Amino acid sequence: MDVRPETEMAITLTVNGVAVRRRVEARRTLVDFLREDLELTGSHVGCEHGVCGACTVKVDGALARGCLTLAVQCDGSRVETIEGVTASGELDDLKTAFAETNGLQCGFCTPAMLLTADVLLRDDPGLDADGIRRGLSGNYCRCTGYHAIVEAVLAAARLRREARRG
Ligand code: FES
Ligand code: FES
Repeated sequence: MDVRPETEMAITLTVNGVAVRRRVEARRTLVDFLREDLELTGSHVGCEHGVCGACTVKVDGALARGCLTLAVQCDGSRVETIEGVTASGELDDLKTAFAETNGLQCGFCTPAMLLTADVLLRDDPGLDADGIRRGLSGNYCRCTGYHAIVEAVLAAARLRREARRG
C-alpha cells in the first residue's frame, strides 16, 4: 500500500488580477510557481537565497521575495508581477526614465528593480538619492554600478511629484 504523505495542496489566488486555482507541491516557491506553472517569466531567479532581489514580486501590495515565499503561503492572496504592473501602464514613467538614463544593461535585475522603485516612490515620492539607494539596497545589479538606476528613480520621482501638484 502506498503510504506516502500528500505533498500537494490546492491553492486559490489572484495573479495580476486573474483568479488562479492550482494544485502545487507544498515546497514549491512562489517564483517557481509563477515562472514554471503560470509562464510569467519576468520574475527572475538569481541567488535563490533571498539575497539578490531578482525574484521580487508584490503579495497583497507588499514587496516579497519570490524565492523565500512558498506558493502555498499565497493561498487567498493577491500577487502582482512585473507583467501585470507593466500591462497596467503604472510603471511607464520608471521604464522611460530607466531607458533614458541607461539604468539597465543586461536587464536581469530590471523587473525587480522597477517593482521595488515603484513601491518606494508610492510610499515617498520625495525620496532623495540616499533614500533611493537605501530602498534599493536589497536589489543587486551586476552591470550598472547603480548610479544610472538612482538617476532614473530620481527622474521618475520628480515626475510623480509634479503630477501630484497638478
Ligand atoms: S532569487 Fe530571490 S533573492 Fe535572489
Ligand atoms: S542590468 Fe544587468 S544585473 Fe542589472
